[in-house]
Amino acid sequence: MIQAQNLAEAFRALYGMDGRVYRAPGRINLIGEHTDYNVGFVMPAAIDLYTWVAIAPRSDRIIRICSRNFSETVEFTLDKLYNSPRSHWSDYPRAVAAVLEQNGYKLSGANLLVQSDLPIGSGLSSSAALEVAAAYALLDISGQSIDRVKLALLCQRAENDFVGMRCGVMDQFIACCGRAGVALMLDCRSLDYALLPLPDDVKLVVCNTMIKHELAASEYNARRAECDEAVRILAKTRPDIRALRDVTEDELERRSASLPETVYKRARHVISENARVVKARAALERSDLETLGVLMEASHTSLRCDYEVSCRELDLMVELARQVDGAYGCRMTGGGFGGCTVNLVQAGKAAFFIQEVAARYENEVGVAPEIYPCSPAEGAARII
Ligand code: GLA
Repeated sequence: MIQAQNLAEAFRALYGMDGRVYRAPGRINLIGEHTDYNVGFVMPAAIDLYTWVAIAPRSDRIIRICSRNFSETVEFTLDKLYNSPRSHWSDYPRAVAAVLEQNGYKLSGANLLVQSDLPIGSGLSSSAALEVAAAYALLDISGQSIDRVKLALLCQRAENDFVGMRCGVMDQFIACCGRAGVALMLDCRSLDYALLPLPDDVKLVVCNTMIKHELAASEYNARRAECDEAVRILAKTRPDIRALRDVTEDELERRSASLPETVYKRARHVISENARVVKARAALERSDLETLGVLMEASHTSLRCDYEVSCRELDLMVELARQVDGAYGCRMTGGGFGGCTVNLVQAGKAAFFIQEVAARYENEVGVAPEIYPCSPAEGAARII
């Protein structure tokens, strides 16, 4: 655990005291994109890339956080709760501290040192990993215990209410509840989940396009509003529709004329994607990776054409992966507008796959992609 020890040493050098070390993982999503806030189905896995937090309590109510990635330090007091986002990395720990305090979790002041292996803002859920790692660490040193699902919901609320990103629960949930070796099929309405072991001879390969589009947050909230609009119209004649989760593909087709074209396309993505997740679970349960791969590619097409959250570089990365031997399936993962693709690759061919895709992408785009071979990992934990 060299990384944890390094961080503990850096913490001691910075603050002159010993600290504990915690971490929370990033995630990929195998399938089920933009379905979580429509209370549908998702299939994420936590990955072995983490946000790390070294921490020690203070005797006052000050939270002091130094980021190793940004070489910056931020300080705030728990007595004056956070109220407006600054579009800064510190929004996330400030927001979780505020939500925890508001919900009756009395926190101790603390010194923190934060470091992330995750590429920031690249669709691997670096924000949720920071929220969960900081919240978990703050609670633990304050002697407060919390249920993992509750922790996920509070971190989601922090992002919704304080940071202003109307995200669903997937990222925080998997950062809290991820398990080694498995993907989770999560029902975002009931929060019930099933553990789906991934076969040993398959690797998760994450390809980072290195592109980030500024539009991501505003377009995300716009997609949510379009889904709400679809529900509002569809519920006029069937009031028990509370979310797109409650509509079948057949019903949407029958009622398509009542929806504006764009709203119809958004709904078609969400409803068909939910159906794909259900089929993907069955495929994974019978180790049918070919079928899972076909479903992942259909998901990408639907995100590109109907939900319109892909971009040229993501489409190219998926296209190149399809051309290389060894991949069962590939698609964009996360919110979109840049960031990463997830690829399900035969373990024995992963090295060749990585080398080929990297070379072809760099050749076409002129930017070297980062490619991470990953394994499904455990959720948030104390390491030292
Ligand atoms: C982001 C959000 C998630 C989810 C995905 C898209 O990662 O944080 O809640 O909506 O986008 O599936």
